[in-house]
Amino acid sequence: MTDTAALLTEPSTTALPSQVLPELKDIIKAAARMKDVVRRTPLQLSQYLSQRYNANILLKREDLQPVRSFKLRGAYNRIVQLTAAERARGIVCASAGNHSQGVAYSCQALGIKGTVFMPANSPQLKINKVRQFGGNKIDVVLVGNTFDEACQAAVEFQRNTGACFIHPFDDAEVISGQGTLALEILQDAPASVDLVLTPVGGGGLAAGIGTVFQARSPKTRVIGVEPEHAAALQNSLAHGANQSLASIDPFVDGASTLRVGELGYVICSRTLDSVVAVPDRLTCQALIDLYQEQAIVAELSGSLGIAALELLKEEIEGKTVVCILSGGNNDFSRFGEILQRANTSTSTTNTDYPEESAA
Ligand SMILES: Cc1ncc(COP(=O)(O)O)c(C=O)c1O
Repeated sequence: MTDTAALLTEPSTTALPSQVLPELKDIIKAAARMKDVVRRTPLQLSQYLSQRYNANILLKREDLQPVRSFKLRGAYNRIVQLTAAERARGIVCASAGNHSQGVAYSCQALGIKGTVFMPANSPQLKINKVRQFGGNKIDVVLVGNTFDEACQAAVEFQRNTGACFIHPFDDAEVISGQGTLALEILQDAPASVDLVLTPVGGGGLAAGIGTVFQARSPKTRVIGVEPEHAAALQNSLAHGANQSLASIDPFVDGASTLRVGELGYVICSRTLDSVVAVPDRLTCQALIDLYQEQAIVAELSGSLGIAALELLKEEIEGKTVVCILSGGNNDFSRFGEILQRANTSTSTTNTDYPEESAA
């Protein structure tokens, strides 16, 4: 199970029904707050994808953030606004993924003590990255063998210490932080944007982007992209209410959630044009293509928007499309599994990736 999936089994500590939905002005303020810490990432024309799809395909390179994902934006925007008293009590989060790296980096930048709960069996690489970014400001607590267990321990820690819980997506300030990348897209795009393809996990990123485009560029269609076996938002929209999935395949970690956030659900239902669910085969092929053709290291959730181009190829012809390349923390040890899923027999493309290169 992914970090975000697990968090959704716990009641959100911050997403109270009374929480005000973020507006464009909140996102503009967030951008000003983070300008010295968060990188203004490039919006790059992909010659390869543009030729392949006969369209202008631009990549928003969030893999180039210091923590190699957009997650720094939301975590920093939330943490930087804590009061002196809240800062003194410290912060806590539970995650083995990109959120914990964003939190660790923010704690170091702001000189705030934080505790990150991670399952004991988390990949050593991710544990090391959190320690590296957090330095002496972060305590990593390895607990249990699942994210649920780590999350329960984090909630208990919060109750005992009064530390501030930083939710990865169901929080207005986190959503505002994520939305700042959409402001950059609007400033940097060479032409008006017809379509934005954004990954959806807990819905924080998509909610932030949807809010900005609805206010500033309402003709742009914003499309959420979920993994086929964890399409929580698509399922909830079909039922007209936010719902938990019975189970998910956590393969596309980061974007595999049982239930999207309550705020994210409301905002996405108002601001997204549609949501597509992408088969793992296409996501794996997109990740491999980014590596082979464009020397870009993306992670699976970061590849979802590019994978969706294949599903939408007829409608994107001649259009300007922005794909949010949301993260690049791919563990090299996953390549074998990714190669295998890219080559599944249900493949409808002629792409044939050599099995031996997995070794
Ligand atoms: C690289 C990457 N992309 C997309 C997402 C999904 O973001 P959200 O949970 O805000 O929908 C995540 C979440 O962890 C992520 O790490």
